[in-house]
Amino acid sequence: GAPVQQDISKIEEGQMIITEWRGQPVWVVRRSKAQLDALKSQDSRLRDPKSENADQQPKFAQNEYRSIKPELLVMVGVCTHLGCSPKFHGEIKPEPFDAEWKGGFFCPCHKSRFDMAGRVYQGVPAPTNLKVPPYTFADGDKTLIIG
Ligand code: FES
Repeated sequence: GAPVQQDISKIEEGQMIITEWRGQPVWVVRRSKAQLDALKSQDSRLRDPKSENADQQPKFAQNEYRSIKPELLVMVGVCTHLGCSPKFHGEIKPEPFDAEWKGGFFCPCHKSRFDMAGRVYQGVPAPTNLKVPPYTFADGDKTLIIG
């Protein structure tokens, strides 16, 4: 399929927009500093904290933030369990799910949880981190090109 272009210049901090690529939702989130800082604290509770499963992201996103730019998360919005679409919970303390959870994505179908980098927690049905699609930027970083 053809690459998809998305204007990302108006996404505010902490906000998510949803676009589409190859018939799948793609999330774009401009993460706040607090959301980025919270990532490190979750490592010991995650199944694949370093994103070592190379199927789940391009090489450029095999880093702490799972992204090219730390603040900008680009992610296929499909649960790696059975394909539902997880819900975005951007706030840092999304109780009552789990007081230790620092926000991220929650799949209502079978209660899988992911952090703000789409990394899956231990003890949930989803086997792997959410998938990062191939992408680049253009137009002075105002445009995201997926695919
Ligand atoms: Fe998401 Fe089962 S489809 S937890």
